[in-house]
Amino acid sequence: MTLDAAPATTINERPLPATFTLNNGVEIPTVGLGTWQAPLNVTREAVSFALKQGYRHLDCAYIYLNEREVGEGIRASGVPRSEVFVTSKVWNLHQDDVGAGLERTLENLGLEYVDLYLVHWPIRFFPDPSAPNPLRPLNPDGTYKVDRAWDQARTWAGMEAVYAAGKARAIGVCNFSVPYLEALSRTWKVVPAVNQVENHPFLPQHALKAWCDARGIVLEAYSPLGGPGAPVLQDEDIVAVAKRNGVSPATVLISYQVNRGVVPLPKSVSHERLVQNLRVVRLSAEDMALLDGLAARGKAQRLNKPPFCWDLGFDDWD
Ligand code: A2P
Repeated sequence: MTLDAAPATTINERPLPATFTLNNGVEIPTVGLGTWQAPLNVTREAVSFALKQGYRHLDCAYIYLNEREVGEGIRASGVPRSEVFVTSKVWNLHQDDVGAGLERTLENLGLEYVDLYLVHWPIRFFPDPSAPNPLRPLNPDGTYKVDRAWDQARTWAGMEAVYAAGKARAIGVCNFSVPYLEALSRTWKVVPAVNQVENHPFLPQHALKAWCDARGIVLEAYSPLGGPGAPVLQDEDIVAVAKRNGVSPATVLISYQVNRGVVPLPKSVSHERLVQNLRVVRLSAEDMALLDGLAARGKAQRLNKPPFCWDLGFDDWD
């Protein structure tokens, strides 16, 4: 990854990049709008407003079940498609036919291609059309119907095919730990451009970031504020950094990621917070060191743990 000298997004003197460059040369805007749990009745308006305010990156997924509204928001904004970086993710149920999974998403969004297509989880679900919720098939004991024999290399081959077909300008993964990436690397022909994981100062994932950095894989941060309810915003150390810099705690958490070369994906549907979350400031080396060290000093916490009952290879997740 290179940090290019695109227009400044900072109040400080040295400009921060507005885009990072992925390992295939595609430019990715450094701050993306998360759409997980954006309610259906406000998503269209929030996306349109966000694009009018200057967002140029939308993070979506088939399973968020709001891609139609996101697509409508893009069209309502008047911002040309070519200026918006759109990400989506193949759902666990569709890993055996990535091309068909992507077609469903493109139809929902009303688009011809996505800029980035990701494997949502390194897990395949068995289909069960008779399940109460066929998108989330459950066993009688309440656990997910995970296909334990499925090889992620097969999913990645499907990802490489949609990339070769030009349906995705870049491809990558989500929620891949180092052991899972190492396994994938034995057969990948295209190196993932991105790995999207939960990331904030309570879960900075330093070792995973170093592994990805060494291979030119950009890390993206979902739940950069801690997810629903944004619990990390309340932390006293983060509030202190915010006060010292004269910015909000959300600006600190979003800026933390951009300053370390990670793409944050803050979610909001409130106008005021959408505008606030576009602000990125350069943080001092001292502030970055403090934020980098919070997890090691007893604040480590993973906030999003879906009950897959499956070892995903993360040390902190049984
Ligand atoms: P809302 O959508 O009502 O703004 P994350 O990005 O880590 O997933 O966090 C999303 C949560 O943080 C949502 O509950 C969102 O609520 C809230 N949020 C987003 N931006 C801000 C902000 N600038 N200040 C406070 N809370 C925020």
